[in-house]
Amino acid sequence: MTACNVLFVCLGNICRSPLAEGIFMKTIEEAGCSARFAADSAGTGAWHQGDPPDSRSIAVARKHGIDISNQRARQVRPEDFETFDLILAMDRNNLDHLARIAPATPRLGIHRFSDYALGQPSDIPDPYYGGADGFETVYSMLLTGCASLVEKLGNRS
Ligand code: 4NP
Repeated sequence: MTACNVLFVCLGNICRSPLAEGIFMKTIEEAGCSARFAADSAGTGAWHQGDPPDSRSIAVARKHGIDISNQRARQVRPEDFETFDLILAMDRNNLDHLARIAPATPRLGIHRFSDYALGQPSDIPDPYYGGADGFETVYSMLLTGCASLVEKLGNRS
């Protein structure tokens, strides 16, 4: 039985959240607990709907042994607030956007990724307008966060 269905959310769903999804999937696989989790990602914006992840996200994932090239961007939709157990926003703007469109009394947890996973009040910075090093930084932050997240969720259920 799936214990926890997690949705990772950023702005475009082409840079950060697809990477978060890929890293999370690899983390649960390596921890031997894939059957207990499911994950997806989405964007608060619709500009990139149907697009594969940004080539720089695909490249940094591939460099670390993760293939995210088959993911396709989509926008957050109302059903997500019913389908998922946990929604993790990459930054404060994403979180504020989710708070505006969420049901008045959401049944699930909606948090900023680093706050929830690491207990650290910080954003996963948007790497879209920067260089490859920004994607490496994002990868590293998400890797640390996902390790902590899986441990936390594993202990919870
Ligand atoms: P993401 O990055 O939210 O991590 O997917 C962005 C992708 C696209 C844009 C902004 C941020 N954009 O403006 O198109």
